[in-house]
Amino acid sequence: MMQKQTLAVLLSLTCLLTGCAGQDSPGEIPEETVLEAAGLAAEFKSTLMAALKEGLADGPGQAIGACSIRAPELAAEMSVDGVGIGRTALRLRNPVNAPEPWLEPLLKEYLEAGPGAAPRAVRIDDATVGYVEPLYVGKPCLACHGEIIAEEVQVQIAEMYPDDNSVGFREGDFRGLLWVTLGG
Ligand code: HEC
Repeated sequence: MMQKQTLAVLLSLTCLLTGCAGQDSPGEIPEETVLEAAGLAAEFKSTLMAALKEGLADGPGQAIGACSIRAPELAAEMSVDGVGIGRTALRLRNPVNAPEPWLEPLLKEYLEAGPGAAPRAVRIDDATVGYVEPLYVGKPCLACHGEIIAEEVQVQIAEMYPDDNSVGFREGDFRGLLWVTLGG
């Protein structure tokens, strides 16, 4: 009993000091903000998937170019007017996609949660809301992130991303997060 109370006091103190950064505070995040973030995430995903499919139609060797150029380009195009958008992962291909501090605990939670976890909105600070959607490995992803990778793809990955740590995945594995920030 005593311990529980102490914990509660400690938690509320921590919240006062940190503003509960990275914690869920659903009451404080307006629904329209969550919907706006979800809309941006959907737009990012469908645009990137279209580029990936187009590239894969010419073979995974071609698609790497589409993906390595298009993903950062799209993130930059959409990161305007107080919006931030991008992808991150625990096992990275491109070190540029390393997680911001608010994303680190979420990555671990989604990894532990297993497949099918729901998107989440969190308050990063007074002015900024973060939104994340988990990305799982589907069949088309295996050509570049799976256990067996074609030689021409391996060669390109090794050249472009010498520290690549994002192969060896299986279908259904948690691959990373698509994130959106609003208002920052
Ligand atoms: C044609 C090869 C290719 C395919 C297919 C592919 N990716 Fe990637 N992936 C890449 C490349 C190249 C990068 C680095 C691009 C960048 O800078 O964002 C990357 C980066 C990522 C990242 C960003 C984190 C990191 O490691 O840098 C995530 C998340 C990701 N891929 C998930 C997926 C998912 C999910 C699929 C299937 C829907 C998929 N990828 C299919 C080549 C591919």
